[in-house]
Amino acid sequence: MNDRRDFLKKSIFLAAGLVAANSTTVFASSGGLPSGIVYTKENPGKWAKKVGSHAPEVKVEGKKVTLTTKHPMSEKHYIVRHTLVSADGTVLGSKTFYPSDKEAVSTYELPPGHGSKLYATSFCNLHDFWVTEFMAK
Ligand SMILES: [Fe+2]
Repeated sequence: MNDRRDFLKKSIFLAAGLVAANSTTVFASSGGLPSGIVYTKENPGKWAKKVGSHAPEVKVEGKKVTLTTKHPMSEKHYIVRHTLVSADGTVLGSKTFYPSDKEAVSTYELPPGHGSKLYATSFCNLHDFWVTEFMAK
């Protein structure tokens, strides 16, 4: 009976250790964002050749923020959506695109108290979810 308890204890510790080690690897490799789920310019993972056409570019002019994904728009391959999100997870704005749109560009007005650290997201129907972190006053 004791052997079985020891075996179970060791198994639980081993499993917890693997989960912890794996989580650290997953989250540390992309600035706190889970790699393999979220892609960034700094950590594009399997989409390394897709950075220029998928990582959203950000332009801040006063309270106006413009997100641009330099990606072709066609029926089979297009940018689905942009969002602008604050560091606390508040979605400050979003825009859904359609294959018929000529370009993936969206513009937002920053609300008061938005915080300085923000995230721009862009989702491609074939190349997953991309995030660009930026600062705005
Ligand atoms: Fe794409």
